[in-house]
Formats: sequence, C-alpha cells, structure tokens
Amino acid sequence: MTEIQPDFTIEQDLQGYSEEEHAVWRSLFERQQRLLAERACGEYLEGLGALGVAAGGIPDFRRLSDVLDDATGWRIVAVPGLVPDDVFFTHLAHRRFPSTCFIRRRDQLDYLQEPDVFHDICGHVPLLMNPVFADYMQAYGEGGLKADSLGHLQRLARLYWYTVEFGLIATEEGLRIYGSGILSSAAESVYCLADPKPRRIRFDLWRVMRTRYRIDDLQQTYFVIDSFQQLFDATAPDFTPIYREVAALAELDPDLLLKEDQEFAAPTRQP
Ligand code: PHE
Ligand code: FE
Repeated sequence: MTEIQPDFTIEQDLQGYSEEEHAVWRSLFERQQRLLAERACGEYLEGLGALGVAAGGIPDFRRLSDVLDDATGWRIVAVPGLVPDDVFFTHLAHRRFPSTCFIRRRDQLDYLQEPDVFHDICGHVPLLMNPVFADYMQAYGEGGLKADSLGHLQRLARLYWYTVEFGLIATEEGLRIYGSGILSSAAESVYCLADPKPRRIRFDLWRVMRTRYRIDDLQQTYFVIDSFQQLFDATAPDFTPIYREVAALAELDPDLLLKEDQEFAAPTRQP
C-alpha cells in the first residue's frame, strides 16, 4: 500500500491487482448486469453506461474520475478502507468520493459486511453522474460536518443508510433500486423488490431519522422516494430544529409499521 495522506487518501495501485482479483470483479459485474437491467432505476443504468465502468476488470479510478468530473464535477479518491466520519464528510463536501481499493475474495461473492471496490465503484459512482444526486451527496457531506458538531450524527447516518445505501424509487414501471448497498448485492437486488417480507414505505424525513437499522442482514424496511429532486428538496432545509424535534420522538425498530406509514403494495413479481 502507498503512503497514507493526512486526508486518508492513497494511490490506487492498479498494477498490483492479480488476475484472480480482476476475475472476481468480472464475476460480480456480469451477475449484477443481468440482475439490474430490470431492477435498477434509469438514472443508475444511464450513469453506468456513460461511465463505461469496465466489465473487463477493476477500473482505473483516474479514468473514471475524468468522465465523472466532466459530467458533475465529482472525482474518486482512493482510501484504504472506512475513514473517520469528519474525513468522509469533508471529501463529500468537496465532491470527492472516497473509494476502497481492495476486492472481496471469491468465497465472499454473495456477502461482505464492509465496502469493497465493487460496492464503492459499481454501487455508488454511477449515480454521481446524475446532477441532482451529485448535489445531494455534496449537501450530505456538508450536513455531516454540521450534524457532527450538533451531536446528531446518528440521525443523519440513518438518512444515508435508508437513501444512499438502501433506497428504492417509484417509477412508472414500478419500484426500482437506487441504493448502492442493494445494487452491489445479488441477493438483496432480488429480495428488496420481490420478497413479501420487507416493508416498503414512502420516504418521510422524520420517519427515516427515527428508524434504527441493521448492518448485518437484509433490510426489513425500505423507504421509497418519488424522484431525486423530491429527496433533494426534502433534505434541503436546515436540520438544526429538525434534529431537536426528532430527538423528542421515540426511536423505531427497523421492522415496525406505524399507522401513518404509506406502505407500497406487496410485490406480485416472483423472486
Ligand atoms: N439540510 C441539511 C442540514 O441543514 C444538510 C443535508 C442535505 C443533509 C442533504 C443530508 C442531505 O443539515
Ligand atoms: Fe456504501
């Protein structure tokens, strides 16, 4: 690994990947391509196409960054793994997306708890090609620094979890995926749309900020937005008073349904 900089960035050692590591990428990529064609939202598929994220192997961050930069002014920076919250937020606030470099082993194709390069690049980066989503991510970074100083990071983290990582979007063709945690998981891409078990609830900022989440299993609740513009507008107000209001309300378990929740009809498509 190259030297770690004060902002936790490193150099992506593209030459250092083995043939097996590129082959793992290809396996993951091909499987998700098949699954996502009819499950991911149009904005994601467009971004993926325009980026030309190579099916051939682990891509060069610099080349992807040049395409991304032209589209929305974002760049990818390489990091060794999860970075401290304030470092993460500062990168986002400057339109830099921190991506890990390592790739999972072949026996971890189906599940990995921590983010790897496939999750970060194939899951997160395509949507950064979308101007509205790109602005949302920058605003989130700025909001993170503020939440940290106000002591409300946990509530803001729930918003990230239930949108950026595990969000669904309603389209004319039905529900579609935009959350990167789903997009990079074969099992969850099928489960989140087709399984009768999880709840699919219309997005509500307060509701999301009150809801705990599990990091070690498929989600029990998904929140559904109508559009990225709706998400951006709903999160644009100053959160300072909202954090106080939310803090006065009970926290909710991830499988709970409130009577005011607007639930989407159970899926009819077969898993
Ligand atoms: N509006 C939020 C605030 O004032 C910032 C934010 C924007 C947070 C978008 C998340 C997403 O803190
Ligand atoms: Fe992620």
